[in-house]
This record gives sequence, structure tokens and C-alpha cells, in this order.
Amino acid sequence: MAIKKPRGTQDFLPEQIVNWHYIEQCMRDICKAYGFSEIRTPAFEDTKLFLRGIGETTDVVSKEMYTFSTGDDKEQSYTLRPENTASAVRAYLENKVYGKENLTKWFYMGSMFRHDKPQAGRYREFHQFGAEVLGSSSPVVDSEVICMIVQLLKDFGLKDLNVEVNSVGCPNCRPTYRQKLIEFFEPKKDQLCPDCQSRLYKNPLRLLDCKNETCKALSVGAPEIHEHLCEECNTHFEELKTLLDAADIQYNLNPRLVRGLDYYTKTAFEVQYTPLGAQSAVAGGGRYDGLVEELDGPHTPAIGFAMGMERLLLALEKQNLLPEPAIEPAVFIVSLGDAAKLEAFKICNTLRSAYVRAEMDGQGKSMKAQLKYANKIHAKYVIIMGDDELANQEAIIRFMETSEQETVPLTSVSERISSLVKG
Ligand code: HAM
Repeated sequence: MAIKKPRGTQDFLPEQIVNWHYIEQCMRDICKAYGFSEIRTPAFEDTKLFLRGIGETTDVVSKEMYTFSTGDDKEQSYTLRPENTASAVRAYLENKVYGKENLTKWFYMGSMFRHDKPQAGRYREFHQFGAEVLGSSSPVVDSEVICMIVQLLKDFGLKDLNVEVNSVGCPNCRPTYRQKLIEFFEPKKDQLCPDCQSRLYKNPLRLLDCKNETCKALSVGAPEIHEHLCEECNTHFEELKTLLDAADIQYNLNPRLVRGLDYYTKTAFEVQYTPLGAQSAVAGGGRYDGLVEELDGPHTPAIGFAMGMERLLLALEKQNLLPEPAIEPAVFIVSLGDAAKLEAFKICNTLRSAYVRAEMDGQGKSMKAQLKYANKIHAKYVIIMGDDELANQEAIIRFMETSEQETVPLTSVSERISSLVKG
């Protein structure tokens, strides 16, 4: 049996990589405008980071982590990162960044791993572009982060985005709300799906976004968090809404948006692109004012988001919003015979040292086949060297767009081509 890639993973071939480069460049550009600097953290971390950071009762931690120990390090458990916020906070603490600056704005791109059921838009290895702001409790930062996502998606040309916003409260007001939810659902416990039954006492907020139809019906009339927010959370949420209005961001208030990770406090949001179907969440995030302390750091309010890069590409593909790949001007050197090949090789090297894309035949093709290949790679210029040209120490340059030709001395062919290519 031929070896296949693991289920839920993907190969990206060169024709797809151009699209990845395109979105990555746009992401880097917008991060520059908003003042975010890039970080890169390990693809695997100490398992405890995610247990404590994301929460043991979340689906991500309880069902979806790739965890292993290996070699002579059998006591140590590692986990492929299922997300990057916990890692960013770990790096923030381990590198004592909090002591060096009082506001930290980071972004990242990379692979994440979750052992979920693969389907369109949901993979076991996927890529996130995310950003984190550490050190501010102001709703101005919340709105900046949301504005950045919306601007990026709009600049890609996506229309009809659905921005959902909620407040999930804080350790002051959430316990009362949790209790209200438990009281609401307890009498219906037996009718809930097995997941919700086990979540009822551990994480009752998650019952609000269960996709099971019976659970959905049973949750009609459940108490809403907005009625239970403390003064501080309420003021924060009101200010955020005012700022989003001022930035002309269209959003929907969704009191059932609870998100799947335990670290959220106050603001939670998701940006959906409904034509994607079941996996329509292109980006999600929120405030996590307690996470740095949870990981033994100083009190540091923070907020961030992550965007699924595969989902973004699916959306752009669907709407035909990916640009045509640019054709790099290439030079192909057609040569016949050993002496001509040697000269072609030297010219190739000279051009490549000047970063001109130059290619020659390496498969013993006929003159006709070499010209055909030159066309295939969209060569703008073809250098032709046959026996006659070589005898005269000359080469022919063919301009492929016009089929015009010029004969130049062998010694100046590289220089002539370089000046043509570089304009
Ligand atoms: P998340 O909602 O779990 O949040 O993931 C963010 C985005 O990653 C999702 O909206 C989705 O686009 C994409 N995504 C998640 N799982 C998959 C999957 N299996 N296949 C494809 N795409 C997926 C977080 O990860 C938080 N760390 C976001 C955050 C940053 N909150 C604060 N700071």
C-alpha cells in the first residue's frame, strides 16, 4: 500500500503556495500598519501549558490534543500546539517581556493541530494567523483588534461578513451566571446530549452553543449573560460597542457566543463568512485578562484573535478573489552539443548570480523540445546556441513575445539579458 498523508492534513503544491504567499504578505502588511511584530514559538509545548491555559474541560484539551512522550524523556508529556495563545503567553513570561515593555503586540502564523473529525474547512493540521495584545484593559484595544480583522477581510474583497460580539463576563460575575444556567438546565438534564450532560456542572456556558437540535430547543429561554454582567464588564462592553460604531463596523450581538476555550473574559467575538457552510468561522478571539496570572505571571490584561488561513483561502477561492499569479520573467538557454551546453551552463550561472531566473536543458532534449519547454515556463527571452553560433562566438536572443531575434557576442550575452530583464 502506498503511503498516504495523514487524514485531515493537506499538501500544498506550488500553484497553491502562490496564494499562501499572497495572503501572508497582506497579513504582514496589515500587522505593520497596526503595530504588531512577529513571533514564532515551538510547534509543541509542555502538555501542562494547554491543560492550565486552555482548560481541561474544553473539547480542544479533553478530546483533540496530539500528546506524546518520547525517547529518554518518558516522564515528560508534550503536545502539538492546538492554538497559539497559550504559547504566546508562555513566551511572554519565559522571556520576561512584561518587564521590558508595558504594551506588547505580537502576531504569528503557523500550523496548529487538533484531532477533530475532518470535513470541508476543518483539518487536523491547519494554519492560523493570529495576534495578541498584552498589557491593556482598555476596550480601545478590543475594537482595534476587531477593526484589523474586518479591514483585512474587506481588503481581500470579502463582503457580507458576519461579526458576532458578546461579553462572557469575568470571575466576579460569571459564577452567578453559571449557577443560573445550571438551575435552568438541571430539570432538563436527561434530555441533553451526552456532551452537554457532562458539561452541565463543569462548563455550563458551553450548553448555549451546542449544535445538537434537541439541546438547541431546550436552551430556548435560557438566562442571558447580559442580565448578569457586573458593572465593570457592562461598562467595558458598552464602550466597545460605541467604539465599533465609531469605526463603522457592522456587528451582531450574540449572547450565545461563548467560544470553546476557557481563558476568555469580557469580550468574545467571531467573524463568520456564511458561504463557507458548517465551518463558517473565519476568525475568533476575545479578551483573556486572567491567563497570564493563571500561568504564574503578573496580572496582565490581554486580548487577541486567530484566523483560519485555510478557511480564508476557501472563501477567497469561492469568490474568485485570488489574484492571477504574476509570471516571473524567465530566460531559457537552448543549446545543442556538449560545447554549447558548457557555454549555456556558464551563462546560466552568471545570470543566476545576478538573480535572473535562468534555465537550461538538463534532460538531453531536442532543440524543438527545449523551445517547447521555454514556452511552457513563459520564458520571455530565449538564448539559442547551436554549432554555427558557437563557431562564431555568438548567441541568438529571441524575444518570445514578438519573435524578433538579435545576435550578440557570446561575451556580452549575460549582460544584455540582465539589462533586458531588469529594465
Ligand atoms: P479558535 O476559535 O479555536 O480560537 O480558532 C480560531 C480560528 O482558527 C477559527 O475561527 C477557525 O477559522 C480556525 N480553526 C480552528 N480549528 C480549525 C480546524 N480544525 N481546521 C481549520 N481551521 C480551524 C483560537 O485558537 C484562539 N487561540 C484565538 C485567540 C487568540 N483568542 C485570543 N487570542
